[in-house]
Amino acid sequence: MTEERDGFRQVMSRFATGVTIVTSVAREGGSVGLTANAVASVSLEPRLVLVCMDRGSASLGTVLETRRFGLSILGAEDESLARRFSDDDPNERFAGVGLRRVGSGMSVLAGALAWLDCRVWREFEAGDHIIVLGKVLECGVEGDGDPLIFFKGEYGTVAS
Ligand SMILES: Cc1cc2nc3c(=O)[nH]c(=O)nc-3n(C[C@H](O)[C@H](O)[C@H](O)COP(=O)(O)O)c2cc1C
Repeated sequence: MTEERDGFRQVMSRFATGVTIVTSVAREGGSVGLTANAVASVSLEPRLVLVCMDRGSASLGTVLETRRFGLSILGAEDESLARRFSDDDPNERFAGVGLRRVGSGMSVLAGALAWLDCRVWREFEAGDHIIVLGKVLECGVEGDGDPLIFFKGEYGTVAS
């Protein structure tokens, strides 16, 4: 079983992805956020994106409860943010991080390449993850720099 898991992980690590930060704001006001690359564009009409969130994610409860989340698409310079939002204590992830209020009050990361403000449209159980489908309320492009890429377990960017 472990061999199967490792093999699957290795195979999927060859699927290069961009890197995002999923954010949400709890009803009591605190921000939650995590690094996520299991993200995809799903539909244009309506505009839908999906994020696969681990059932063990501390941020998942806030996303499902408030039915709201933001997605910030990271640039090549943002590796430290990706590490911070995956590795650091959830309570310390936002310390010193520039935020931008967008749309109907969602916080996204200032300086990201692009962002989306989403309402949870549907969620689906999928093994040890929950597929969260978000309806895009608003989105915007902030920069045209190179993207942060995750490939074979390492961060990089595109070679042009
Ligand atoms: C490059 C990268 C991509 C990740 N993608 C996801 C993802 O798509 N979904 C997810 O649930 N966790 C993903 N993680 C793991 C979470 O970022 C990590 O477990 C985080 O600590 C969860 O935070 P939370 O428990 O506060 O929600 C990823 C981690 C890295 C480094």
